[in-house]
Amino acid sequence: MVEFSGFYKLPMEERIRRIAEHARLSDSEVSLLRGSGALSLESVDRMVENAVGAVHLPLGLGLNFIINGKEYVVPMALEEPSVVAAASHGAKLCLPEGFTASADEPIMTGQIQLVGLKDARGAISSVLAHRDELEKTAKKLLQSMESRGGGFRGISAKQFRTPRGAMAVFYFDVDVRDSMGANTLNTFLEGIAPRVQEYAGEGKVRLRILSNLATKRMARAKAVWKKEVIGPEAVEAVLDAYELACADVYRAATHNKGIMNGIDALALATGNDWRAVEAGAHAYASLKGYTSLTRYGKDSSGSLVGEIELPMALATVGGSIGSNPIAKISLKILNAASARELSMVAACVGLANNFAALRALCVEGIQKGHMELQARNLAMLAGASPTEADEVALQLTKEGAYKLGRAKEILKTIRSKKN
Ligand code: HMG
Repeated sequence: MVEFSGFYKLPMEERIRRIAEHARLSDSEVSLLRGSGALSLESVDRMVENAVGAVHLPLGLGLNFIINGKEYVVPMALEEPSVVAAASHGAKLCLPEGFTASADEPIMTGQIQLVGLKDARGAISSVLAHRDELEKTAKKLLQSMESRGGGFRGISAKQFRTPRGAMAVFYFDVDVRDSMGANTLNTFLEGIAPRVQEYAGEGKVRLRILSNLATKRMARAKAVWKKEVIGPEAVEAVLDAYELACADVYRAATHNKGIMNGIDALALATGNDWRAVEAGAHAYASLKGYTSLTRYGKDSSGSLVGEIELPMALATVGGSIGSNPIAKISLKILNAASARELSMVAACVGLANNFAALRALCVEGIQKGHMELQARNLAMLAGASPTEADEVALQLTKEGAYKLGRAKEILKTIRSKKN
């Protein structure tokens, strides 16, 4: 395993040098990291409407991740202090075994809605009676995905009674390989919808869109945190915290937010649609009444076993990945060969963040680690230079007073002593 212990204590230049060496980054990639990956105005203008600039986020590295025996350095883009440290801490505490993880084939499901039906069940039967023709048309429409080994995987249907009458919904499953799949699915659904309308013999097609509840594209991870490493009290404390997330939806929302801290950060760093991942995760958490996305228990030796399972529609190609140079560098740093591998890493990061947050919440309280890391931020806000910021942050931490006003006073004292 690459020695990254104490990485966060190194000066920024040395950190960049170490990761450049580890991920074999080119000089131009290193320059992009140094320039904080500033997107050109031409790029942002291509990416969104009414563009006038770009917002940048810090890129940090989640360390200590051993997953199915392979080491990963996890790029994480976010504004919140302590999330990267927590992920690295959670991952470190389950070493040397690390995580085991798996992910389904990248199958996304799209929906075609048929409204204005007198007989929804009859319309469904008529459409499904043309299953073979639909499959043929689907394969033609999905030719390029078929040629990559993906493509059409199946069709099913459901009827709904709604205040606006009976509706039929047809679910098309498509293997989207290493893409997220939204464009592929939506283009395909618009292409095949006229056939559905024709075979139904009545009604009108309305929505033709993928579902973000990607239950056929699940990622799973598991880790054991040894009682001897984290202590028996931490095992009991995490179990108590977990049970509250199962029992109380107010707690479950925050518990799952902590999981998504790391997953979103990885999705953002790799140019993925984190909103789609969020939507899928929370919808999945609410399938049987909103609850925890993780599960915890004890093994026969009394150690803590943590597991996570959630939909994970992540891509390594397509979308904004191509137009975002930092996303490409992030993928190079991660060194995941496929979207499935990326999804497995995301599940592990979510589990690591959840475990670290629960442990910290129960053992030393979340504010200690969080606010210690926030202290430097406060110092910079108070106007400190990077060298002054360390001194201000240290004093704030000693006093446990994380206030901007106090940071300004400390800075004033430091400067007056120097003059
Ligand atoms: P610590 O015990 O002081 O850490 O914890 P340590 O000094 O023993 O270091 C252990 C490892 O943590 C290090 O290994 C690093 O990998 C990492 P080493 O490099 O020494 O071999 N680490 C760091 N990495 C980068 N920068 C750092 C740093 N410090 C340690 N400065 C720590 C300190 C913050 C990790 C711990 O207190 C922790 O895990 N806290 C949890 C923080 C957290 O979860 N924050 C999320 C934001 S709060 C939130 O939004 C979610 C929440 O509401 C969710 C919920 O309620 O469930 C909490």
